[in-house]
Amino acid sequence: MDDLKSKYLTQIADAADEASLEDIRIAAVGKKGEVALKMRELGKMTAEERQVAGPALNALKSEINSALAAKKAALADAALDERLRSEWLDVTLPTRTQRRGTIHPISQVTEEVTAIFAEMGFSVAEGPRIDTDWYNFDALNIPGHHPARAEMDTFYMHRAEGDNRPPHVLRTHTSPVQIRSMEATGAPTRIICPGGVYRADYDQTHTPMFHQVEGLAIDRDISMANLKWVLEEFVKSYFEVDGVDLRFRASHFPFTEPSAEVDIRCSWEGGTLKVGEGDDWLEILGSGMVHPKVLEAGGIDPTEWQGFAFGMGIDRIAMLKYGVPDLRAFFDSDLRWLRHYGFAALDVPTLHGGLSR
Ligand code: PHE
Repeated sequence: MDDLKSKYLTQIADAADEASLEDIRIAAVGKKGEVALKMRELGKMTAEERQVAGPALNALKSEINSALAAKKAALADAALDERLRSEWLDVTLPTRTQRRGTIHPISQVTEEVTAIFAEMGFSVAEGPRIDTDWYNFDALNIPGHHPARAEMDTFYMHRAEGDNRPPHVLRTHTSPVQIRSMEATGAPTRIICPGGVYRADYDQTHTPMFHQVEGLAIDRDISMANLKWVLEEFVKSYFEVDGVDLRFRASHFPFTEPSAEVDIRCSWEGGTLKVGEGDDWLEILGSGMVHPKVLEAGGIDPTEWQGFAFGMGIDRIAMLKYGVPDLRAFFDSDLRWLRHYGFAALDVPTLHGGLSR
């Protein structure tokens, strides 16, 4: 019995992990283990022999069991110590000040635009990026056969055969929000709607997803003169200058009559884009007086109300203000670019505190 005891206690002490400890337990005190076999021999003994051997075997069994339990606890402690060692973290290390995130220029410019128009009494409206072709086209006086549908390079949502829902598109402009906000609030109204729009187009000044801000002002006697003043005020505030050359060009949109496109004077010399100088013009917006049919589609009586609308390219005016020559860089997620052109999170643009710093 002393041999058995020293054999198993040594094995337990040497066990390297819980699996080998379990093997030892089965061999020693399991149902068919060595101690159990010895207990079976008790039957063949005389009563006196059994009185000595019985308690001794029981004592041996419990001694082995407690050695097993102690070793198991010790192994668990060692495993925990090892985890604590390997997962150690120095919480006193300084933070990485060079690697902070930045606000994307498009987000920053959207805030700047919102701050300027808010000061002129416009509130912000929103609409879905996936919209029906009725909101994106028909309600804006662009019927099915109209060439503008083809010109817009529209992304259509896939439709399964037998799907009878109205066709959906990725909105090609923010103008559908004109209709949605007329439906929601009626006239008079003064809103801007900034947001993403989509067209299948890709070069230095076009990306398949870009951003516009729609403007809509409806009242009883709004005119083109109000439109021109609002846009000039906006451009001066936004570029933080006393005057910028704007060019109003007669144009055509199905949803405005009359219509004008507005270009801004700029220079691309030496690969850098500068606003207000040079002999080039960059188109930044389309605008005009809201077409009576569009007012009707929005549930507003065109014999009582009239208004102006415009749609401006947020990315375009961001390029101009911050000298970004290639629009595609806005959407490349290049960290070096983001660190260079990004804004500090606390530089919230306001008219009184300054738009950009
Ligand atoms: N929706 C037009 C575009 O995306 C812009 C626009 C808006 C023109 C409102 C006139 C009035 O090109």
